[in-house]
Amino acid sequence: MTDVIGYPCCSILISMTEKILNPELNQMSATAIAHPNIAFIKYWGNRDEMLHLPLNGSLSMCLYGLTSTTTVRFDPSLKADELRLDSLPADEISLARVSSFLNNIRGLAGKNLYAQVESVNNFPAGAGIASSASGFAALALAASAAIGLSLSEQELSRLARLGSGSACRSIPGGFVAWLPGSTDLDSYAVSIAPPEHWQLFDLVTILDRGHKSTGSASGMALAHTSPRLGQRLAELPARLAACKQALLACDFEAFAELVEADSQSMHAVMQTSTPALKYTLPLTELILASVTSWRKQGYAACATVDAGPNVHVLCLPEAKSFMLQALHAIPGVLEVLVSQPGGPARLV
Ligand code: PMV
Repeated sequence: MTDVIGYPCCSILISMTEKILNPELNQMSATAIAHPNIAFIKYWGNRDEMLHLPLNGSLSMCLYGLTSTTTVRFDPSLKADELRLDSLPADEISLARVSSFLNNIRGLAGKNLYAQVESVNNFPAGAGIASSASGFAALALAASAAIGLSLSEQELSRLARLGSGSACRSIPGGFVAWLPGSTDLDSYAVSIAPPEHWQLFDLVTILDRGHKSTGSASGMALAHTSPRLGQRLAELPARLAACKQALLACDFEAFAELVEADSQSMHAVMQTSTPALKYTLPLTELILASVTSWRKQGYAACATVDAGPNVHVLCLPEAKSFMLQALHAIPGVLEVLVSQPGGPARLV
């Protein structure tokens, strides 16, 4: 199937239910807000690189207070898509990625229209928080609404996944599981508990605001070259089930061990890939070791790291003020952002 602009598009999405919101639409514009998410059990590697069908299921929490706000306006007078990120015209690579994502939506709606996209993050630029998850979740929701599609949460999660795998976990709210599925149709994320289920803090500890040299999409394409991948995949089903159980039972002790084990296992795969990927800094390792030792002293905290040097310190309310003070006291820590479980992506 090709869409009306002639792109080889979204045969993968044609099974989605299309409902035109308002056939008289003349104001084809919508704004959506989505939160980034932090994974407790990580996504690192695909069975299908293009569709982002993951090797394993993952678990995450949406981050309250941190947002991507995206406005999409389809306009018959435009000759190409336009993109502004954080108030500046985007580079060509970002524009091409967004444009190819929009092709899915144009194909679904059967509309030959280009769009103006404006996306703003409220978290510090380059703070090392994955803005692609919140960005593509907000874009999926805003663009589909702007063009007149009304998609279910499941359909939106599948759609966001095509932009960036972890973006599917920023569509539902609270604590979220990505069901890996085996095709485009059954690979999406669902909420397993609302934000108020557990008062867990994420103290996002920023050590470096620079952009990583290898993005997560190209980094995880190397996962298959790692001799540690087999072991990780063999361990994952039990770890995922145990982590979900600990989360649902609010059992911090069990949760903490599983979250740290999963982060270490993902970084072991990264570091043994060819070429090897080292996202952490010596200061990252120091903070990870410190958090583990503070937990041994009785503070309810654990740490996890994504594809970058910054550390997400997860803790319970009673440990928060000690952890904040201890983290700020470490030379080299630039900033600590405080977040809690957040809600789903939504239209504004
Ligand atoms: O969705 P991506 O391509 O940004 O990959 C996310 C990868 C990690 O952040 C390292 C892990 C995860 O599950 O979020």
